[in-house]
Amino acid sequence: MKSSFATLILAGVPVAFAQVKNAAFGFAAGTTGGGTATPVYPTTTAQLVSYLTDSSPRVIMLDRTFDFLQTEGSTTAQCCSDNRTTKCPGGTSAGQLWIGDTCDSGTWQTCTYWNAPRKPIDVKSNKSIVGVGSKGVIRGKGLRFSGGVSNIIVQNIHFTELNPQFVWGGDALTLDNTDRIWIDHNKISLVGRQMIVSGWGKAGRVTISDNEFDGRTTWSAGCNGKHYWAALLIGKEDYITLAGNYLHDLSGRAPHLGTDNAASVVHAVNNYFKNIGGHAFDIEKNTWALLEGNYFENVDTTLTPNTYTSGGQTYFIQTVADASNAQSALGYIPEWNRLAGTSKAMNPITSSQTLSKFSQYKSQITWSHWKVENVPTNVLNNAGVGKV
Ligand SMILES: *[C@@H]1O[C@H](CO)[C@@H](O)[C@H](O)[C@H]1NC(C)=O
Ligand SMILES: *[C@@H]1O[C@H](CO)[C@@H](O)[C@H](O)[C@H]1NC(C)=O
Repeated sequence: MKSSFATLILAGVPVAFAQVKNAAFGFAAGTTGGGTATPVYPTTTAQLVSYLTDSSPRVIMLDRTFDFLQTEGSTTAQCCSDNRTTKCPGGTSAGQLWIGDTCDSGTWQTCTYWNAPRKPIDVKSNKSIVGVGSKGVIRGKGLRFSGGVSNIIVQNIHFTELNPQFVWGGDALTLDNTDRIWIDHNKISLVGRQMIVSGWGKAGRVTISDNEFDGRTTWSAGCNGKHYWAALLIGKEDYITLAGNYLHDLSGRAPHLGTDNAASVVHAVNNYFKNIGGHAFDIEKNTWALLEGNYFENVDTTLTPNTYTSGGQTYFIQTVADASNAQSALGYIPEWNRLAGTSKAMNPITSSQTLSKFSQYKSQITWSHWKVENVPTNVLNNAGVGKV
């Protein structure tokens, strides 16, 4: 999504984003990552880890595949097969086995999984991690932003193969006690657990823009060839812009927002949800979510029934009245969401508490929106790797 970059140049602000394309907008506006540090080009996994975890601001360019998958060996253990994820009679894919110590409602089964995907790299502050063309791939490893680190940009990287056969096999990106994270133009595929997860600590100010969440898998907890665990955003102080993303072939948590100890303000705008064989949004308590200009195509469940009863506050723009009723709080006329293909009609949900909440954050939500009818074309042209 093109943002306020042109405005920054016009205003004479120095452009401090060497190798990073465009500038962070939305809640993570002002995130500069490694800034003007001289770019470095790691050639080995060890060098990549060293650049990510040292205390210097860095612009780290990825021009190859960093293959971590077998670097820490494997574990053979007992995994749980239970009917939540592995009984797929007549399904179009196998399910996922659970890695863990309990198996109350299932049966134990011998399993072997890779160790590296289960231990993310703990990235330090002030880093830009940027793929070159479509060459930047991290295989079998995720990144974690925790322990108070801040100001990190992840752009144009493909994260893939984190034990997709196993629930708890690995998360791609974890935000837990952090701030100012911009996740832009990446692709995430074939993970075991979450593609992005925030919690239990705060995620702070985050923009998740123009990413491809590719859920196609042969190990689906939904038994339908679509990954279930897409994005779980339940941090205790989260301000998240979710814009221009392509979420496809998923079956759940696409995304899930909020829980008991969360506090999440989420602006989801101009995302393209396609072939969701399950649910897109599942919104729970302690969440204020503004959903506008999103395009839902062949989505079984746009908002879970839970979203209506959990106490989470959702404003979902569906009608002209929904848009005009939001105008004074937002300072602009928001765009409506569209349900297309086989997406089922849904009941209205328009929380005035969400509008009050967003009226406090007007400066983080103003940029030129796409008209909803242009979302599929624009998202397919922009989202994922090799596009920025
Ligand atoms: C799954 O197993 C549990 C415990 O054995 C049972 O209560 C539940 O009904 C089963 N669900 C399905 C869908 O078979
Ligand atoms: C990150 O950069 C900011 C601004 O230059 C600086 O104040 C801060 O100390 C840096 N953080 C680390 C951990 O180096």
